[in-house]
Amino acid sequence: MQIIVTESYDEMSARAFDEISGLVQANPACVLGLATGTTPIGIYERLVGACASGALSFAHVTTFNLDEYCGLAPADKQSYRFFMDTHLFNHVDIDKGRTHVPAGDGVSDNTCTDYERMIKEAGGIDLQLLGLGHNGHIGFNEPCEFFPKETHEVSLAESTIQANSRLFDSIDDVPRSAITMGIGTIMAARKVVVVANGAGKAAIVKRAFTGPVTPEVPASILQFHPDAVVIVDAAAAAELAL
Ligand code: GLP
Repeated sequence: MQIIVTESYDEMSARAFDEISGLVQANPACVLGLATGTTPIGIYERLVGACASGALSFAHVTTFNLDEYCGLAPADKQSYRFFMDTHLFNHVDIDKGRTHVPAGDGVSDNTCTDYERMIKEAGGIDLQLLGLGHNGHIGFNEPCEFFPKETHEVSLAESTIQANSRLFDSIDDVPRSAITMGIGTIMAARKVVVVANGAGKAAIVKRAFTGPVTPEVPASILQFHPDAVVIVDAAAAAELAL
């Protein structure tokens, strides 16, 4: 695992952008795993800019998002599909038919197995972008007693509901469950890029990437990934002994 400490949020975003744009240029038909949250917004802004200037094309790229809230329709402003459309897909030359976000509304028995199958049929994920929850979650894999393997439905931790309520009108509006790729799905990606910024992430960055590997800190498993890059700003790196 490589840990890159940058000076600022902008520099963190630029380094992660370099990883993604470099892959898209080298392999225009690559499969990207994408993340929501406030952390990757700067990366998406850069990808949109590169596409607008003609430096990058998503015409042949396929994407799979990590997760989606249960019960939110794609048109719901709080859904992760809406987030991805608004921050990236609507502004680049991607074929929307190649963009995948788990179906949070109308979850059926096949929702999770279908998602796993589609990822496999696409040839697997070349690069998975990840943010980091304050409790160490990746996607919506919450701390628990084991590492969930495949895409599954999960009950959100109280701390996650609390943290994500900042983006909703009221905490009561935050869905209590979600569909998320499993830890096995994420670990199967050929490359993983994790981004984290701000002082609020400093403690969990230290625990996840320098502490013991345990399902109580789901992101800690990434220490065992053969090609994982963690890109943090100085504030998020404050507790690392580098
Ligand atoms: C959510 C998402 C995660 C994301 C995390 C951190 O819970 N499911 O994928 O990484 O929040 O979000 P932020 O980047 O806003 O700190």
